[in-house]
Amino acid sequence: MAASTGVHQRRCTVQAGGTTPAKRPRGRWFAGGTEDLTGPLAGIGDERVRLPHGYTNETELTAAGDVRKCYVGKDAKARQRVEAACLTALTTVLPVPAVVAVEGDATLMQLRPGEHGQDLLEQGHGEAVLLLAGQLLRRLGAVSPALVMGLGGQGEHVVHGDFGPQNMLFDLGRESVTAVLDWEYAHRGDPIEDLAWCEWIVRMHHPDQVSLLRSLFAGYGERPPWAARRQIMIEKCELFEERSRAEGPENARALWAERTQLVRTWHA
Ligand SMILES: Nc1ncnc2c1ncn2[C@@H]1O[C@H](COP(=O)(O)OP(=O)(O)O)[C@@H](O)[C@H]1O
Ligand SMILES: [Mg+2]
Repeated sequence: MAASTGVHQRRCTVQAGGTTPAKRPRGRWFAGGTEDLTGPLAGIGDERVRLPHGYTNETELTAAGDVRKCYVGKDAKARQRVEAACLTALTTVLPVPAVVAVEGDATLMQLRPGEHGQDLLEQGHGEAVLLLAGQLLRRLGAVSPALVMGLGGQGEHVVHGDFGPQNMLFDLGRESVTAVLDWEYAHRGDPIEDLAWCEWIVRMHHPDQVSLLRSLFAGYGERPPWAARRQIMIEKCELFEERSRAEGPENARALWAERTQLVRTWHA
């Protein structure tokens, strides 16, 4: 979902000691936070388990218990660099996984605890999730972009670039965000971009929960005008359409073109 163009141009490099891509347990999912990890991990040897809710890259849990994210598709190297820079710089100010190592086209990072925002939305916790997402975004807005080495774009704020429950983990019992993941599209800019993209995720993928967007704005402390939010949604869909055009195949481009048109029909 979200930022994925639906295109995987090449497989990641196989690391020494790992399984070959063909032998990887592809599509072998498991749900939930860290408590669930001991079960599926038991007895799988050095095979890696692909993590759920990945839409662009190949993200797996290693037998050692780290997360290994292998970047695929257009600009993979640049996206890997941006994410590593963000994770490294933000580790003391926001809940992000620490970088363990960078190995070729993969980054090893710490496994964060928590329940996935998308699962929580589907389980009826949209109000709490969106409130926490809004509050987190307010905190991100206070971070100086100068903290992150080599962040592209213009503006006085760090923009995550694919912000929303699809890239967040939560501990609702403690009313906290335990991880903001997937920083590969980060850049300098205006926080309204992340706010509008989070709104797009809800409107597009959880249309039954649109009324709960009030919690997102309450958490953020501001509800920017609809026209500005919708314009951002349109521009981001067009950007993904453009990326899909560069990468092919035709159906990914057509999907984003359709989504762009759909946003044009939305009302506040
Ligand atoms: N450090 C981490 N700790 C726990 N889960 C993670 C971590 N990194 C990724 N994940 C899981 O893997 C999924 C895919 O990772 P993500 O970085 O979002 O990749 P993609 O760019 O393919 O969307 C996340 O939505 C989350 O479920
Ligand atoms: Mg993601």
